[in-house]
Amino acid sequence: MPRTEFISTGLYVPDRVVKNDEFTQWMDTSDEWIRTRTGITERRWAAVGQTGADMACEATKLALQRAGLKAADLDCIIYCTLSPDHFFPGTGVFLQRNLGLAGIPCLDVRNQCTGFLYGLSIADGWIRSGQYKRILLVGSEVHSTGMDLTTRGRDLAVLFGDGAGVAILGPTEADGRGVLSTHLFADGHYAELLFCDAPASARHPRLSQDDIETARIFPVMNGKEVFKHASTRMPESVRLALDTNHLAASDIKILIPHQANLRISEMVRRQLDLREDQVFNNIQRYGNTTAGSIPIALDECVQGGLLGRGDLLVLAAFGSGFTWGSAAIRW
Ligand SMILES: CC(C)(COP(=O)(O)OP(=O)(O)OC[C@H]1O[C@@H](n2cnc3c(N)ncnc32)[C@H](O)[C@@H]1OP(=O)(O)O)[C@@H](O)C(=O)NCCC(=O)NCCS
Repeated sequence: MPRTEFISTGLYVPDRVVKNDEFTQWMDTSDEWIRTRTGITERRWAAVGQTGADMACEATKLALQRAGLKAADLDCIIYCTLSPDHFFPGTGVFLQRNLGLAGIPCLDVRNQCTGFLYGLSIADGWIRSGQYKRILLVGSEVHSTGMDLTTRGRDLAVLFGDGAGVAILGPTEADGRGVLSTHLFADGHYAELLFCDAPASARHPRLSQDDIETARIFPVMNGKEVFKHASTRMPESVRLALDTNHLAASDIKILIPHQANLRISEMVRRQLDLREDQVFNNIQRYGNTTAGSIPIALDECVQGGLLGRGDLLVLAAFGSGFTWGSAAIRW
């Protein structure tokens, strides 16, 4: 049975850079608070009218060009996002249309910050079974249109950014290379600890004036609980990935933890006893781009020459749901 390899990667982030200081015109916050609590100094915001599918399309064009492939070579799209362009249909079909394709299947994955790992696990199964040979795996988010930019929403508004990362995946028979394992988890007992209540079909109607006035349309979070679980679950998942493959932390060339908070990444690093150069972070420049965070970071690692053939790459994520997981990849 073949394994799944990363044929190429790509990223796109919008041009608009929003520095921490900009938030002080809308809410009671400071660059110092944001930097010391999260490590973030700036993030990108999409232009008015620029959609998640638009950003994903730019990232895909880059990945296709790097792979020497055409859009028509893709035989499946898996689109991961918590900020779909529309309530329905899924955003994958809009990306498919932007790419000038029709007919190939488009699956939307709604597993928030763990979305890219859920998508990778599905893609890996399909590729190993021979069902598809060129899967476009996307993580793309537009958070800037859905944040409460008043002091009430300051705990979340400063954390998130917009951007897209993609990977083109295919089968490899090369000895030992490719995706070695994926491990996925979820615990719905914590669903409301990082949550957006409206619009929702669970409400009558899905969206009311009251939802807007009382801010139910904005996400809410118990930051301390999220922090505690993220900094426990990610190292746990990495250890599982290593144990499953009879590997040690010292074997890791690069660990990409989901970019939620630099302090969380640092706690993950310490718990796994990794050196600083083994853990890649770029949250400083992009904030938390949710499903986009791992593929954006991965593309920067690849373009920065941090991964060579045969290196061990480990991915770990945690997010709303709660959902979490890991993947081990022999590059
Ligand atoms: C949100 C987070 C940065 C807050 O950090 P923290 O160390 O828990 O915050 P503290 O307890 O030191 O401070 C909380 C105080 O800061 C205030 N605060 C929150 N956001 C603020 C902001 N942007 N600017 C200034 N003050 C802010 C709170 O209102 C609170 O004030 P109070 O004590 O008067 O009630 C942190 O909990 C976190 O990163 N959690 C994980 C979030 C995450 O990763 N989410 C996505 C997961 S995928």
